[in-house]
Amino acid sequence: MAHAWFENEVLLPGIRQEGFWMNCFLDEIVVEHTDIEKLLDRLLKFRHPPTERFSAILTQLKGVLNAHFLKEEEALFPLTEERLSPQALQRLSAEMNRRQSEARRFSTGN
Ligand SMILES: [Fe+2]
Repeated sequence: MAHAWFENEVLLPGIRQEGFWMNCFLDEIVVEHTDIEKLLDRLLKFRHPPTERFSAILTQLKGVLNAHFLKEEEALFPLTEERLSPQALQRLSAEMNRRQSEARRFSTGN
């Protein structure tokens, strides 16, 4: 969930303004983050896994995560590094570092 929050709030707005991305591609990344959050939320509600339904949701989550990370690692991140100017990358990096602590609230539950 920290991954989704961090990219939706910091990374994607930072690169969206650069203009070379198709909005539909970036919107798809956001939709996948929402799907991941929903699937994780459903998994966390199970008290006594594994049930058949738990396994089905887990399989869906694995599929969404695999496709999502592949899309980010093979397109989003390389193209961002390739197309952003050194100044834009520096600004984005500084903003990511500045807001990194905000993402930690998802891992501590606070
Ligand atoms: Fe992501």
